Amino acid sequence: MIMNTTAEHLGLDVERIRPQFPILNELVHGRPLVYFDNAASGQKPLRVIEAVDGYYRRINANVHRGVHTLSNLATEAQEAAREAVRDHINAKHAHEVVFTAGTTASLNLAAYSLGQLLLKPGDEVLITGMEHHANIVPWQLACERHGAVLKVVPVTEQGELDLAGIPGQARTDGPFTDRTKVLAISHVSNTLGTINPVKELVAEAKRHGTTTVVDGAQAVPHLSVDVQDLGCDLYAFSGHKMYAPTGIGVLYGREELLERMPPWQSGGEMIDRVTFEKTTYAKLPFKFEAGTPHIAGIVGLGEAVRWMHDAGMAAMAAQELALLEHATKELLQIDGLRIIGTAAKKVGVISFTIEGVHHYDLGTLLDQQGIAVRTGHHCTQPLMDRFGVNGTTRASFAPFNTLAEVDALVAAARRAVKLLR
Ligand SMILES: Cc1ncc(COP(=O)(O)O)c(C=O)c1O
Repeated sequence: MIMNTTAEHLGLDVERIRPQFPILNELVHGRPLVYFDNAASGQKPLRVIEAVDGYYRRINANVHRGVHTLSNLATEAQEAAREAVRDHINAKHAHEVVFTAGTTASLNLAAYSLGQLLLKPGDEVLITGMEHHANIVPWQLACERHGAVLKVVPVTEQGELDLAGIPGQARTDGPFTDRTKVLAISHVSNTLGTINPVKELVAEAKRHGTTTVVDGAQAVPHLSVDVQDLGCDLYAFSGHKMYAPTGIGVLYGREELLERMPPWQSGGEMIDRVTFEKTTYAKLPFKFEAGTPHIAGIVGLGEAVRWMHDAGMAAMAAQELALLEHATKELLQIDGLRIIGTAAKKVGVISFTIEGVHHYDLGTLLDQQGIAVRTGHHCTQPLMDRFGVNGTTRASFAPFNTLAEVDALVAAARRAVKLLR
């Protein structure tokens, strides 16, 4: 039985949740799998696996194209999933939910299209020092294309944003200037676990006429995200980090902005009328959904958000926080262990280094004991530079994880340290 009063109080019964994840029955090197790599990719509950399976078994066909029954059923399933996602993030309209291949594709769409729409030479794009490469490189490319300047909000020693610390800018001025056209910021850092004050930043951005893009890849699995409450213009996330299949993601966009944004990818499905002289585009969201979509993935994403709703977001978050608290306390007992990312507001992500131990070696030894963690730079090389490390070991929690598994991680890390030092 899991000793976790908060999560139990909120109704999360971890012993009932675990059997819903078939992969947890796997043995790794002869040991029960302990999966602490949820921030890289989450595991899938049976309901999602069965939804994808059922799609292929019973209604597989292309969407929006046919007059035949299967095509209509596939279209209905896709649009029901869109509505489920709309509800999950509280978007105003279902057509504000654009299906993409994932956060990376969503951010590339945003950077390309907003670049075309907004950026002129000398304009500024503001990002932060804790961004994933997927929220850095597309903006670098957009800046190169349009002669704009990339500015970066620095990160404090605790792993929070230093909003008054932009190099070359007076501290009293804050991060925005009258040339800041886009703010692109992660809601939650995949490496540090920090929850950024997105709502406040979006409000400030609005006062400067800045368009806001939020990378929600690590937030949507853990927080009850309400895009209308946040007030952001665009919000990107991936299915595979939130119990859904790989290869499917979302770009939410405010209707008025999506209407103005030029398309990114082009071809079939995104057009209204094509002639060799001129093409007009389909209405939202199809203007941004060129080609045959990942229909099975969309169906799986719809089921994933329904599953999250039934499991209870608050109860799952409470379980993850209990795990984080326990792991933080116990890991810090290990001699030479340093936690990278000690912000006041965090999700269940814990990155650490251990003096004299290479993260790759530690990760390999943990794997031999059945424990899956992520090691390396986590696609945040500038953040690694900021903290003067070349990588960390990262454990990231899901609600099916238990305090006993955290204890197993700590014990295994202790054994590994003895071997490696
Ligand atoms: C914060 C953040 N942004 C973007 C991404 C990219 O997501 P994907 O690889 O699913 O496109 C990730 C994935 O790790 C992430 O953690």
